[in-house]
Amino acid sequence: MGNLVLIGFMGTGKSTIGKLCADRLGYGYFDSDAVIEAQAGCSITQLFARQGEAAFRSLEKQVLAALSARSDVVIATGGGAVQDPENATTLRANGRIVLLTATPECILARIHDAATRPLLANAPDPHARIAALLAEREAAYRRAAHHGIDTTDRTPEAVAEDVLAWYRKEDC
Ligand code: S3P
Repeated sequence: MGNLVLIGFMGTGKSTIGKLCADRLGYGYFDSDAVIEAQAGCSITQLFARQGEAAFRSLEKQVLAALSARSDVVIATGGGAVQDPENATTLRANGRIVLLTATPECILARIHDAATRPLLANAPDPHARIAALLAEREAAYRRAAHHGIDTTDRTPEAVAEDVLAWYRKEDC
């Protein structure tokens, strides 16, 4: 039935929920940001600082293509991954895509240190920056996703149950 792919803004729980889902499905788990860091040999923050966002996006595209070629894996993507429609097409070709959402307030509360997130690091008002990025990305997220689940004020376990219930139903 293809891979299970989690997309959505930073702080929506993609990694935590992805790991829970992979454990329960007996699937391998991949966090595309972690794969990028391993390949680049530095953190995402350092990659942005040293080579710029374009270099990060190019590596992200290669990594998503390689991960999509695998079978029976859960892939947690970076928050900007599907802004590139080619990435969305690649992920959809061999996967079912769940969009995780949350309110800007909830996202800000979950992102303890905005300084470690390159896209928020220099924002004088991180809440406003989150709201602006969400508005900018909303359409691409919706276009890429097969299904959406709101994670606001919910535990990762409860959200993972919902993701799995939907994913298993898709198999019928
Ligand atoms: C990004 C989100 C980050 C990471 C990079 C860019 C974005 O991933 O890929 O900093 O464009 O929203 P998380 O969503 O896992 O924080």
